[in-house]
Amino acid sequence: MTDSRTLGESADLRRAPIDVTAVLDRLVRDADAAAPTSIGFPGAVDLDHHAVLTRLGGRLWNNIGDPEDPGGVAHTRLLEREVVGWVGDLLAAPADDRWGYVTTGGTEGNLAALHAAYRRHPRARIYFSTAAHYSIPKIIALLGARGVRVEARADGEMDYPRLAAHLHRHRRVPAIVVATAGTTMTEAVDDTSRVRDLLAGHSPGGHLHVDAALAGIPLALDGRLRLDADSGIGSVAISGHKFLGVPTPCGVVLIREFATAVRSHGSPVNYTATRDTTITGSRCGLAAALLWHAIATHGREGHRWRAAEARHLAGYAVEQLTAAGWPAWRHPHAFTVVLDTPPEPVRAKWLLATDGPVSHIVCMPGISRRQIDAFLSDLVATLPAASLPRPRQPIPPRVAAEPG
Ligand SMILES: Cc1ncc(COP(=O)(O)O)c(C=O)c1O
Repeated sequence: MTDSRTLGESADLRRAPIDVTAVLDRLVRDADAAAPTSIGFPGAVDLDHHAVLTRLGGRLWNNIGDPEDPGGVAHTRLLEREVVGWVGDLLAAPADDRWGYVTTGGTEGNLAALHAAYRRHPRARIYFSTAAHYSIPKIIALLGARGVRVEARADGEMDYPRLAAHLHRHRRVPAIVVATAGTTMTEAVDDTSRVRDLLAGHSPGGHLHVDAALAGIPLALDGRLRLDADSGIGSVAISGHKFLGVPTPCGVVLIREFATAVRSHGSPVNYTATRDTTITGSRCGLAAALLWHAIATHGREGHRWRAAEARHLAGYAVEQLTAAGWPAWRHPHAFTVVLDTPPEPVRAKWLLATDGPVSHIVCMPGISRRQIDAFLSDLVATLPAASLPRPRQPIPPRVAAEPG
């Protein structure tokens, strides 16, 4: 017998008895039904995490406290340290000046890094671009800091002359600048060497944080994102459920320059027997194990291959959309394809992320050419017959080229 009630009605805890199995099955059925047309959000879907979920999923793994602290049981801090170490090595962070942990996601990573930086520079203004993630102004408000919004260019990258002008205006106070490596809508990557050079000329000093939620791992694999002393970058925040496709929200934050200070700020908590260096108290040990597994089973080469395949598909999507006469483009390194917003039925079916006239699809690992073709055929079906076939447009080399 099919249940005609909505999921909300079936799950309503005030209505007994509840068919728990039916509710859980319904959640899975709905998610499975949406998956083939879910190309608007940046979660990779190609990795198999069952080994961890089956083995560890049934109990509590609580990584409360500092990941570097030994002792305790029923936590995965050992795996967490491995994850932080792998990401630190990938980013070429100096082994004697790095500290980090597995967070609940990119937002907590940004908060942890900006909290540490603001603690070091309590008079600082915090600069962020208008293309930065919405978590940044929220974090600035939480810290009680003063933010400076810097206009982004049309392609999503920060406008450096404007940043320079803002820095000059506030030349007497330190500057904490948030650059983004993979903005949410266009996956633009701010040029951190330009920001570093501007900060070098800012005499009260400051800090450069990179919000690399989406593109941190792939750019680090390319050698394009580094956390060494030359980079001038002091901290990086990455999401774990995006490129690494972990099936629970998580992330990694890495801090350089004042790793020792962060460690010593954490006060010891007697009853947990660890130092309180992280934003949250109890922390998800399962997430650390899932991240460790995603890294251990694929390694640098496996993840490089995943990134290359996904970028290749994004190039294909741009090529096909352009050939069909639908305006589309991407940054050369990006999984994200930016396009004119399609009509509502197409947008709704394909779960596109939309910001007014602009939408995007994200060709994350696990998205297939067949899905892109089906999306395109739905889109083409909405075009007035008179406009088909449109003349084939030459593909601009910048868009068609694969990243080196
Ligand atoms: C650029 C950027 N920063 C931060 C975040 C927030 O990450 P999370 O959802 O993991 O907290 C996102 C999420 O989409 C993002 O695109």
